[in-house]
Amino acid sequence: MTWVYENEHGRLFQGDCLEMLSSQETDSVDLIFADPPFNLGKDYGKGISDSVVEDEYLQWCKTWVDECFRVAKPGASLFIYNLPKWNIHIAGHLNAIGAMFRHWIAIDIKFGLPISGRLYPSQYSLLYYSKGKPLAVLEYRFKFVGTAEATLRITEATKTSCTPKEST
Ligand SMILES: C[S@@+](CC[C@H](N)C(=O)[O-])C[C@H]1O[C@@H](n2cnc3c(N)ncnc32)[C@H](O)[C@@H]1O
Repeated sequence: MTWVYENEHGRLFQGDCLEMLSSQETDSVDLIFADPPFNLGKDYGKGISDSVVEDEYLQWCKTWVDECFRVAKPGASLFIYNLPKWNIHIAGHLNAIGAMFRHWIAIDIKFGLPISGRLYPSQYSLLYYSKGKPLAVLEYRFKFVGTAEATLRITEATKTSCTPKEST
């Protein structure tokens, strides 16, 4: 694991996720955002295979998800970005280990060309879970561009349910 950058907000490390996570204390991390390889056969450089059999990929995901859940502080948020194909399994695993489901956030991502024999891939999935009752107040802003442009704001607090509000 290599320390590659630092500023007033913190330090950035580069290395294998399982090695890095194993060095972290239990209940020590405020927020986790994972954007793993999607097992699509991309070239991420030496020593990383992005094309393994499905069971192996899912087992690897479950291993680092377990570690993320272990190191997260009680009330911490976990975000996991992946294809819906993988996130349905990862969500099931998070449910099984006792993480609290908050939202399935759909990310509009229409920058690819149509793929023969498949529906046009129009959204990726961002899972949002917490380790028990969430501590943070999170606010998201999304821009929708269509015939009209609107901003959807979702404000979430520990004592209120998720209430979408629309404004222009
Ligand atoms: C989908 S990309 C995410 C890119 C990143 N979000 C960005 O904006 O640059 C997946 C990343 O995971 C990295 N990766 C693959 N296997 C890894 C591992 N075992 N531990 C840590 N990172 C890994 C790849 O090198 C790649 O940078």
